[in-house]
Amino acid sequence: MLEKIAIITMMIFCSSLAASPSNAQQQTDAHARQWWQNAVFYEIYPRSFADSNNDGIGDLNGITSKLDYLHELGVDAIWITPCFPSPQVDFGYDVSDYEAIDPMYGTMQDFDRLVSEAKKRNIRVILDFVVNHTSDQHKWFLDSRSSKTSKYRDWYIWRDGKNGGPPNNWQSEFGVPAWTFDKKTGQYYYNYFYPQQPDLNWRNPAVKDAMLDVTRFWYKRGVAGFRLDAVDTLFEDPNLTDNPPSPGKDKFGRPNFARIYNTKLPEVHGALQDLRKIADQYDAVLIGETWTKDITELKNYYGENSNELQMPMDLMFGTVNKLSAPEFRRQIAAVDTAGGWPVFVISNHDMVRSYNRYGDGVHNDEIAKLMASLYLTLRGSPIMYYGEELGMQNNDPKRKEDVKDPQGITGWPGEIGRDGERTPMQWSDAKNAGFSTTKPWLPVPPSYNTHNVAAESKDPNSILSVYRQLLAIRHNEPALLNGSYTALNDDDPNVLSYLRKDKNEAIVVLLNMSNSPQKIKLNLAPQGFASPKLTVLLSTFQQPTSAAAADTVELPPFGALITKITK
Ligand code: NOJ
Ligand code: CA
Repeated sequence: MLEKIAIITMMIFCSSLAASPSNAQQQTDAHARQWWQNAVFYEIYPRSFADSNNDGIGDLNGITSKLDYLHELGVDAIWITPCFPSPQVDFGYDVSDYEAIDPMYGTMQDFDRLVSEAKKRNIRVILDFVVNHTSDQHKWFLDSRSSKTSKYRDWYIWRDGKNGGPPNNWQSEFGVPAWTFDKKTGQYYYNYFYPQQPDLNWRNPAVKDAMLDVTRFWYKRGVAGFRLDAVDTLFEDPNLTDNPPSPGKDKFGRPNFARIYNTKLPEVHGALQDLRKIADQYDAVLIGETWTKDITELKNYYGENSNELQMPMDLMFGTVNKLSAPEFRRQIAAVDTAGGWPVFVISNHDMVRSYNRYGDGVHNDEIAKLMASLYLTLRGSPIMYYGEELGMQNNDPKRKEDVKDPQGITGWPGEIGRDGERTPMQWSDAKNAGFSTTKPWLPVPPSYNTHNVAAESKDPNSILSVYRQLLAIRHNEPALLNGSYTALNDDDPNVLSYLRKDKNEAIVVLLNMSNSPQKIKLNLAPQGFASPKLTVLLSTFQQPTSAAAADTVELPPFGALITKITK
């Protein structure tokens, strides 16, 4: 059947590169899709993207200077991790003012210019809203800790100790105690993360109102939505019931507890519904940092009436830790039938880069192309992580004294922290990878010499070129934008194959997740294609091997092939 696959890889390759991605905004109406359903998102860690004033730390003007790069890549929306004033204990996830820009990153004028320059290129800007906690330097907390009767006392969670210790057995995510004793007023405050990140009391209506106002503030400045940080942790049991023990130890060597009384409380949904009502007034999207153990939990975040998060991240997909066709097939099927719009992520600033996690040390570049061919062709919205399109790899600290991330400082050597996945974007083979003329806040890995924007732009076989092609195809193919997902050959242990179909348009994706060549036999008759003609849209290997038998296609180790069916 596949004998008609023409060996036209290079031809398609060139035309794909030349095609300019048509961005999401131009495509929403035709298929009655929301803009965020057609969009490709791109996460930017602002400290590490581009340093415009050469102080070693990235900034907003740096991002603005790279918008053309992002547009040409095919990005429709950028999510910028926190760029608000912050003591930077957790690198911005400790916000001391929600309605300003940290001078380290620039000014509000710089921010406005970034939004308007992005808009000119049909790129939307998403901010990161740290809803669960503030910095201990936020004016609300400074007042809160000043006295038991202060105006903002009840904006945080203050309790008396018990039996000479903390109020209960809850643990912080960051390996430190979750309750911090404050001598001045003789009570403990609660911090799910670091002590410098006290939890807000979302049961106080004044807190909720203030936080809703923050979103209005940014929507009015043209922001197109928020990535909501740590939504699982917004509410705690008011009775402070101890969490029950669970087997094993955590990464800091502490005994485990099931966090049933301080995470994923049902009250979270009310808060999300309130945030959503405002988002809807501005055609904005809410993306959730949703750590769920199964699909039922993920489903809950869409809201019973689809009135909570439009885009809860499926982090179960993102944390599949080995290349396994059956495992990915299972995860995709689960989220595809969950009823909401799937959100795929394979890397972010909290997890080891996908290049390292999936790489086998020999075929890493091929595997990076394979993974891109997977999550950029599924039904749902992908969120890329800066540098993933280059095959950037982790550059982990080798000595404790080099660690910047508080998690790594507390957890060394068992938990080395997240610095490795947050290193500067690799723009060229110039000093510091062209990120800055000054020593950057984190060192770049030696692989920047080959894996950088300048070099990869010139190489039609680079990871970057594959990403560019994929995004161009994704924006131009109705079957990828709107089509259904159907698993093919679902007992194949090595090759993940699927059909994306929209009316008469259909695309077949074949992904060899093994390190040996694989032959695939396809029967597309049950899908309504009795004698299909297949045309190669993208192949990550030089020449798609023509079929040994009439109905067989062969893929090299880790090869990816995307073909279009025409009847
Ligand atoms: C999740 C963020 O992604 C992470 O970087 C941060 O440390 C915690 N939330 C606390 O805000
Ligand atoms: Ca700078």
